[in-house]
Amino acid sequence: MTAESILSPEIKRVLITGGAGFIGGCLVRRLLRNTDVDVFNLDKIGYASDLSSIENISVSNRHHLLRVDLKDAVETAKALEISNPDLVMHLAAESHVDRSIDSPIGFLESNIFGTYNLLEAVRSHWDNLSPERKKRFRFHHISTDEVFGSLGSKGRFNEKSQYDPRSPYSATKASSDHLVNAWHHTFGLPVVLTNCSNNFGPWQFPEKLIPVVILKAVNLQPIPIYGDGLNVRDWLYVEDHVDALLLVANKGQVGQNYCVGGYGERTNKLVVENICNLLDKYRHSSAPHDRLITYVKDRPGHDQRYAIDSTRITSELGWEPKYNFEEGLEKTIIWYLNNLEWCAKVRENANYYGRRIGTVGL
Ligand code: NAD
Ligand code: DAU
Repeated sequence: MTAESILSPEIKRVLITGGAGFIGGCLVRRLLRNTDVDVFNLDKIGYASDLSSIENISVSNRHHLLRVDLKDAVETAKALEISNPDLVMHLAAESHVDRSIDSPIGFLESNIFGTYNLLEAVRSHWDNLSPERKKRFRFHHISTDEVFGSLGSKGRFNEKSQYDPRSPYSATKASSDHLVNAWHHTFGLPVVLTNCSNNFGPWQFPEKLIPVVILKAVNLQPIPIYGDGLNVRDWLYVEDHVDALLLVANKGQVGQNYCVGGYGERTNKLVVENICNLLDKYRHSSAPHDRLITYVKDRPGHDQRYAIDSTRITSELGWEPKYNFEEGLEKTIIWYLNNLEWCAKVRENANYYGRRIGTVGL
């Protein structure tokens, strides 16, 4: 059963927040390509946003951009009126840990107050739905494994893990999870939550590890590995995350959270070495790329290890990742090599050219 085939036919209007970002964009494209729903894309169009991946899709008359900042309660409420959704999938957030170290306030505004404004607007919308639409309405909150803190060498996060966020980013995401759960328990809002591990794939703004390393290597610049490079992340190809999101939005139990991970644990050092090896294959003339690897001062408060136990979403909903890490990485590298102009464009729009960020306190 594919994720698309289980989109209930009654779902005609979907509000995606953060649909101009990396994961939201992948979700919007999937909905436009593989379903006939109307997609309302609420995004403030921040530094990491880009719509070119969506504009290329010919059925984009079903894509409706709502340029709204969730900080603005009035505009957020208007967006709910305009979109009149059967399903809300909330991905909008400030998402980069390093930026949250340099300047946490925007994370509080978007991730906490933004989620609060959205929940209030959604609650009012849901209160006024017909009994039929009310029954099938869902609010899906998209969150991260980072809310559970940092693991030692053993064990995996699951749905029962304690919250223990340790960066300004993860603290604001944890707060938003708590708000969503509170709106369910107090007001009865029908919510589902997902907590996913590190995503990678095409169209990711080049500030996170994998695209940073690709672009540094392509430009023959030093490749920065924080600390000793032995921190571990559990990598998941973005299309697999989107499969999981659609399954949970459609079939997940109300009030439940689902952990999503690809059993793709790798040290950062290994990820960087894999990228260098693949670039040696595709850019043979500048090999070996691993000569560019440079160990730099660690990220303040750097979480040691994340890993996810995906048993619940697999056993309850039948989700399994389709891509292994190596396949996904090769596809990603080929995509970046073919889209260096896009990288230059989004870097210029954001006035961000790969400088080190998140070093406050070092
Ligand atoms: P991203 O930074 O690429 O995109 C986020 C989008 O949200 C941007 O387009 C931005 O403009 C928008 N946004 C931010 N604040 C907003 C506001 N106040 N009002 C309206 N729009 C706003 O992020 P991403 O990597 O696509 O992550 C999407 C979601 O998934 C986030 O909630 C993140 O916490 C979560 N998540 C990400 C990962 C990952 O590895 N990238 C893993 C697990 C969960
Ligand atoms: O776990 C899910 C989270 O994954 C998401 O919630 C976040 O939105 C997403 O940004 C990501 O957070 P991380 O901090 O794990 O991702 P990032 O790509 O920034 O870093 C991955 C690892 O690589 C981390 O251990 C820090 C390290 N790193 C990162 C950069 C940018 C480096 O060694 N060098 C770098 O230049």
